[in-house]
Amino acid sequence: MRIVSGPASQLLATRVASLLRCGVDLTEYKEFPDGEVYCRVMGDIRNDDVVIIQSTFRASDFIYLLELIDACDEARSITAVVPYFGYARQDKRFKPGEPITARALARCIKADRVFTVNVHDRSVLGHFPCPAIDLNAAPELGNYIDGMELKDTTILAPDDGALSLVKSAAEPRGLHYDYLEKTRISGEEVRIAPKSLDIRGRDVVLMDDIISTGGTIAEAIKLLKAQGVRDVYVACVHPVFAHNAYLKLYDAGVKEVIATDTLERPMSKVTVAPVIADAVKRLS
Ligand code: R5P
Repeated sequence: MRIVSGPASQLLATRVASLLRCGVDLTEYKEFPDGEVYCRVMGDIRNDDVVIIQSTFRASDFIYLLELIDACDEARSITAVVPYFGYARQDKRFKPGEPITARALARCIKADRVFTVNVHDRSVLGHFPCPAIDLNAAPELGNYIDGMELKDTTILAPDDGALSLVKSAAEPRGLHYDYLEKTRISGEEVRIAPKSLDIRGRDVVLMDDIISTGGTIAEAIKLLKAQGVRDVYVACVHPVFAHNAYLKLYDAGVKEVIATDTLERPMSKVTVAPVIADAVKRLS
């Protein structure tokens, strides 16, 4: 088995390779003056089982993924691991004439199988032209949070959509969990409603699948602070952190931000490599 890494997931790919005790192919990437991207897998992957790992944060990351799959067309099998599947939130047609972009992109991934990690909505899995499995990194976040030894740790979801994520992080470690009530007003603006929770004096970890503009979590932090919690920490699987998201959280009073390495960011303190390595091991 060989690991081939796309440019967006180099660190994660090496972590998976070291857990699987297999090689990572040296791969070259570059961008032409007109913006087109190019890659080349330097090793000989013919007749090998290849695992391509590439998050698709930018449009060019998606092109790299397609290029890598094509470059490995003589491999025995191709497993595409897309730790952060970009555009996953465009999973429905909200207005006539709109594309279902998550579906359009999923349909292009011609591998033998696909693994995603906490994809925003599992409905996208049905659009890949091959078997697709979503892996859950929340228990890894739960382990990390448990090790922080906070005071009366409570993990909260900012909305009921993130409740199952929070539950799977908290339950294995016996931590308290609950959720807040969120209404989205626009792309950047949300309203979080107070809920009667017994959290005064506790350390609270707000957890969501994605932090993008930070609007959702910043509102939730302010609400929790007003309810008299001790410290507010923030955890997410996919640290997109667009625009001034980090400053928004800091301004709202966050104590620390914890994320995974599905996107390699300074706050990516938890690796999803064991989750991916276990899934890949189960293939053989
Ligand atoms: C939405 O349903 C997602 O789970 C996240 O809550 C959302 O993407 C966060 O976006 P933002 O950080 O821009 O509020």
